[in-house]
This record gives sequence, C-alpha cells and structure tokens, in this order.
Amino acid sequence: MKNKNKIKINSLIKPFNKVINIEGDKSLSIRWALLASQSYGVSQATNLLKSEDVLNTLKCLKTLGIKIRLTKQKCKIYGKGINGYNYKKKLILNAGNSGTLARLILGLLVHSKNNIKIIGDKSLSKRDFYRIINPLQKFGAKFKSKKGKLPINIYGSTDPGPINYIENKGSAQCKSAVMFAALNTEGQTIIKAKKSRNHTELLYKYLKIPIQVTKKKTYNIIKVSGIKKLNPLNYKIPSDISSSAFFLVLTILSNKSKLIIKNINVNSSRVGVIKILQMMGAKILFKNIRYYKGEKISDIYVESSKSLKGINCPSHLNSSAIDEFLVIFLVAAKANGVSYFKNLSELNQKESPRLKWGSKILNSMGIRTITTEDSIKIYGNPKLKVNKKIVIKDYLKDHRVFMSSVIAALTFGGEWTIYDKDSTQTSFPSFMKIINKIKKS
Ligand code: S3P
Repeated sequence: MKNKNKIKINSLIKPFNKVINIEGDKSLSIRWALLASQSYGVSQATNLLKSEDVLNTLKCLKTLGIKIRLTKQKCKIYGKGINGYNYKKKLILNAGNSGTLARLILGLLVHSKNNIKIIGDKSLSKRDFYRIINPLQKFGAKFKSKKGKLPINIYGSTDPGPINYIENKGSAQCKSAVMFAALNTEGQTIIKAKKSRNHTELLYKYLKIPIQVTKKKTYNIIKVSGIKKLNPLNYKIPSDISSSAFFLVLTILSNKSKLIIKNINVNSSRVGVIKILQMMGAKILFKNIRYYKGEKISDIYVESSKSLKGINCPSHLNSSAIDEFLVIFLVAAKANGVSYFKNLSELNQKESPRLKWGSKILNSMGIRTITTEDSIKIYGNPKLKVNKKIVIKDYLKDHRVFMSSVIAALTFGGEWTIYDKDSTQTSFPSFMKIINKIKKS
C-alpha cells in the first residue's frame, strides 16, 4: 500500500522573493493557555498556535474542568481562579509529544487533591522527568514513576512550598514549572536559574504577579510570591522564531532569493539562531521593531548568502538557540571550514537525540562530522552537491528532524524520501503549505 505519510523531494528550490507569515509561538501559546486557566474570568488569545502540542494543552485543561471555546480566529478560556481545577478521581492527562506541556502543567498540579496520571507519546515517554520531579517534590507533592519517565502519577500537597531551587541546565521548562507551582504558595520561592527563555517572567510582570529578577552574567535570581487572584489575560501571540528558522536557512542556502518573515517574536532569549547565522556570514535584518506586553517583535529580512564561514559557536548562545541547532547544522555543512558546537548535551534530551540525528542527516549527504555526547564538529563543504538517494525514517517523529530534512533536500539536492510528514502537526502544521507557496514563485 502507498504510504501517504512520506514525501519525496528530488529537485532544488528555484530562486524566490516572498513575504510569509508563520504561526503563533509555541512557548507563548502553551504558557498563555495554562495561565489563563488559573486566572479568574475570560481570557482571549489571537494567533494562538493550533498545533498538536497546543491542542493537547487545551484538552488537558478541559479534562481539569476548564471551559474553552476555540474558533479559527480566537481562543477563549474561562478561568476558574488559582487552583480552580476540578480534581476528579483517576484523571489522566495526555501530553502527547509536548515536554513543555507535561512539565509546566505538573507545576500547576502540586496542589491536586487527587492523584493525577500524566502520559505521553513514545518520544515523550523516553524523556527525563526527574529534572521536574526533584524540584516539585520540594513543594510537598509526591510522585510515582519508573526511572523518572512517563507515565507519572502526581499526588498534590495541601500545603505546598515555597522553595529554594537551583536550575543549572538552562531549562526554561524546569524554571517555569517551579514558577507555576509558586503561584499558589504562601511566601517567596527563590530560583537561581541558568539563563533560558524568559516568557514566563515577562508574563508574570505583565500580570502583576509579584516577581523580582536580578540578572547576573550566566544566571538570574528569580523571586516569585504566590497570589490569591490572577486577572484574565488577552493576548495577541506573536509568531514563532523557531518555526521561522527553517525559512531563514532555506533562504540563506538558496540561490538569489529573498524573504520577509512578518511579526516574529525576537525576545533576546530566543535570538541565538540569528546571532549564530550572522556569525557564519548570513544576511539577516530586523525591521519594524515594536514591543508587546514585554515581548520584542519584528519583521525579519533575509537573503541568500554566497559565502558562509565555519565558526566555533560560543556556548553562551546555546540556550537561546536550543531548538534551532538541527537547521543551523545545515548552514555549517555549506560553510567554508570547520564548525564546532559544544556543551550541547541538552540536545539529546529533546524529541529525538538531536546531536545524533544532526550528524546522521549530514553524513548521509556526504558531510564529515565528529560527534561526542555533547558536541559536534562539522567539516563544511561550500561546493557540496548531493546526488544520491537519501531516506529519513524512524526518528521518533521529531518534527524538527522532518523539517530540517526538507530544507536540506531543497537546498543541497539529491533524491530524498522523508517519512512521517504528519510530525509537522506538533509545532508547525502549515510548514509544507508555506514551502509550496514559496516554490510557486
Ligand atoms: C521550551 C523550552 C525548551 C525548548 C522547548 C520549549 C519552553 O526546552 O527546547 O521546545 O517553552 O519552555 P528546555 O526547557 O527543556 O530546554
């Protein structure tokens, strides 16, 4: 039987000059929904990302007794106040593929009156949850799991927190889960957190949740206090820089092409990808910069690059580019010289072991790599033209492996068969539609 869930690509993309819109930011969409569910009253969002990770967030909230109305244009969440969930007996929440959902919602469940079970798909069930169980236990919640993996049972505490916590992985999910748990505690939770995306901090400031952030060179001290009532939050979700990264790289690696990507969230804790690509010689500009509820938003202008150079990527940019490395590696493959990306053990903690998959894709194209547990050296070849058959499959349906492979196929050539097309539903359902729009130049 014909497998409709794979695509074949066997020609390079032709020069293009386009303006595109990308879907809403995933981190902000999930955070908005979870916070709206804890507010008292109706919150409304536009440009909410309607991908599986976000739809699973809405489903979990409905299971917890929250009313939600989702239309093409808008999402409305009828919050029932801090800790206002319906903790029925034997609840099961399915987080699907989303680490952000599973980890952040656990933060809100440290108060649950009954046992709640969190489950997820094959990829999520391989990922580490001790990183979240350990700090959340300090709030008084109890957990049952096998080796810190899903399925996990959480038993809430009647008198949670506050706690002191050191977050040393640069994980925004761990930091945010603890900040969520702190919402319903009496007293101040203090987090020493290695720098990572700061959307939760900005939303707390905007919502007037007591928060104090002291910035140090490599970490921040975050002090959060619990509150009794949270106001609803209307939000226009800006578009996702992680999704736009595929189109930045498509343009950089294509011939004589230009692209404008509208309305992107360029929060400084997310723009590592732009800084790294610029270091490699890419032409990228921000235009029409504006601010919205603490977030920085811009249109991004990008053009093809004739000459790219290999870099020794500074590790301090790792957390602000953590979701973009697979596609950044493609630029390193085309660059003059060797590129070195290090201190990246967190990349193997994602939807698939991405250091492994990054080198697998490059090796199949004929690029030499040296990979360790936490680093990759890429021997770039500016003249590389791929003209063989490449098959990408069995990658735990990691959406970013699929999308990076499509970009590689369209810019390096070869005859590619890429399985699990539906993986784009996780974060970027319109990905192939935008590719096809650009192809029709
Ligand atoms: C996210 C944080 C990052 C990132 C993920 C989204 C978030 O994970 O990889 O896609 O929204 O907080 P870690 O916090 O595990 O680094």
